[in-house]
Amino acid sequence: MCGIVGYVGREDAAPFLIEGLRRLEYRGYDSAGIAVSTENGIVVRKSKGRLSALEEKIRGDHMISGNVGIGHTRWATHGEPSDVNAHPQPSASGRFVVVHNGVIDNYLELKNHLIRRGYEFASETDTEVIAHLIERYYNGDMVDALNKLQTRLKGSYSLGVLSADNPGQIAVIRKDSPLILGERGDEKMLASDIPAMLKFTRDFYELGEGEIAILSREGIAFYDSDKEALSKSTFHVDWDMDAAEKGGYEHFMIKEIMEQPRAISDTITPRLDGDKVLFGDFNLTAEDIAGFDKIYITACGSAYHAGIIGKYVIQSLTRKSVDVELASEFRYGDPIISEKTLVIVVSQSGETADSLAALRYAKAKGARVLGVVNVVGSSIAKEADVTLFTNAGPEIAVATTKAYSCQLIIFYLLAVYMAEKIGSVAETERRRLLEEIKALPGKVAKILENKDDVQRFAALHFNARDVFFIGRGMDYGAGLEGSLKLKEISYIHSEAYAAGELKHGTIALIERDSLVVAIAANRRLFDKLISNVMVVKARGACVCGVTWEGNKVIEESCDFALYVPETEDLFAPSLSVITLQLFSYYVASMRGADIDKPRNLAKSVTIE
Ligand code: G6P
Repeated sequence: MCGIVGYVGREDAAPFLIEGLRRLEYRGYDSAGIAVSTENGIVVRKSKGRLSALEEKIRGDHMISGNVGIGHTRWATHGEPSDVNAHPQPSASGRFVVVHNGVIDNYLELKNHLIRRGYEFASETDTEVIAHLIERYYNGDMVDALNKLQTRLKGSYSLGVLSADNPGQIAVIRKDSPLILGERGDEKMLASDIPAMLKFTRDFYELGEGEIAILSREGIAFYDSDKEALSKSTFHVDWDMDAAEKGGYEHFMIKEIMEQPRAISDTITPRLDGDKVLFGDFNLTAEDIAGFDKIYITACGSAYHAGIIGKYVIQSLTRKSVDVELASEFRYGDPIISEKTLVIVVSQSGETADSLAALRYAKAKGARVLGVVNVVGSSIAKEADVTLFTNAGPEIAVATTKAYSCQLIIFYLLAVYMAEKIGSVAETERRRLLEEIKALPGKVAKILENKDDVQRFAALHFNARDVFFIGRGMDYGAGLEGSLKLKEISYIHSEAYAAGELKHGTIALIERDSLVVAIAANRRLFDKLISNVMVVKARGACVCGVTWEGNKVIEESCDFALYVPETEDLFAPSLSVITLQLFSYYVASMRGADIDKPRNLAKSVTIE
């Protein structure tokens, strides 16, 4: 997500910070800032937009001269991109200044707690809460203050903190968000990722979960959460800059596939308080929901595929009628829309021209418009009546993976939220569903641990001419996304079919050794799907079944089986799609395709 850097040494800090941030630009950002400890206290400079805007701002600025500083590139999550929301974030007195990577799940609770005690907030960020809390807890010892801070924070964070009382130091702490440190003589640096420091050193210390470090010219002191001093050894990397930006992975796409447990968890946790779904920003009443005459979901590409799953889940849990429409077609179908219609517009970028046009059309007809968007501050996020953000972080690869997965999560949570409001599912069932949602990041991680199985299967079939994905119900929805992934990055012709529809035409294409991927993760429809598998097998197809662990019966009818952990049927697409993403990735990689930038495709399509 965001990028952090810090420098302590004899040189002017600002150029080091800017150079480090430039090396983190690939992560995506919408604003940047630095803070330097100077003779006149801590000086902060920040700017919305590209790093060049920040550089312009500090050019010839003698106030920002000093040898100790921190810097940040921000990818907005709480509050839109702006100068004031950019990091570093100062405490009330300005004595403490913080840069932060990650998401503080309980920031609202903490913010309200601080407001009740008289604190005023300048920004909309979760990070400002941290700056105020450090000031509140600081009693002359930064390690104590940070240890106290960690008992209050829920969520993920890596922090770099400047304090006016200790101008020669930077304090850092982290949990569930990476942070590395390095030294070169009496110069020290910190960063959220290796590329920022490759010119400085190739030997790094990794800060462990909950650990604290104090960087000064004298050295780096490490502490655990009991304030015990820790000794650490470095790890060495030989990576070039390109490999470093991809975290050592060959492509951004596989890096982003591997990031999914974190992205999903970052999307779930801020929306849950115990067994309650928090959609305070949406704030629907039972009457609102009961009063909806229609719910439409509209989107393009993978976001549309997420919408297909969303339809099943919302309809199933709320018993409200939901239609999914391609955004490029929505307004031409003369949809029946009134002020009692809810239109959900789904978009990773928030800028897709057809999705934006659909949104404007729906608004003009009086509908209530809900955005499900990844990029804060984007057009769809701004123009929707309310937006629920997917906290997937920036996606670099053109073929979406983690943003799609997070869109599914928002639909699951939204369906459970609406169902609770109108009482359409029993309370025990609602709790069970939430437990299943909470377990998804761990289950996705398990599939990723076993990715070699998918790679082996891809190695057998990367030369396929056509691939057919079949499934029923939500498995069909997952198949649509799997098929799109495969064709967009490997250029293999592929189609997804509702398994029952095959016999009405497409089966004419099935011949000896045609590759069929049968998604069979839905227990309710398993037997029916296997009947369809038998039909293609009888025509000589080679079939791979994707099903839940332990369902060995699939091996009787399929030539190959790939397993995903068991889950509730409604959430199974979140797991089967990971296998399909990996399959596409490995096939494309074995074919030597330009995976991150497939031909003819764009990440954000701003033409209709
Ligand atoms: C492009 C991208 C797809 C994406 C679609 C919709 O075609 O290549 O990956 O699904 O646009 O984009 P959005 O940003 O609206 O989700």
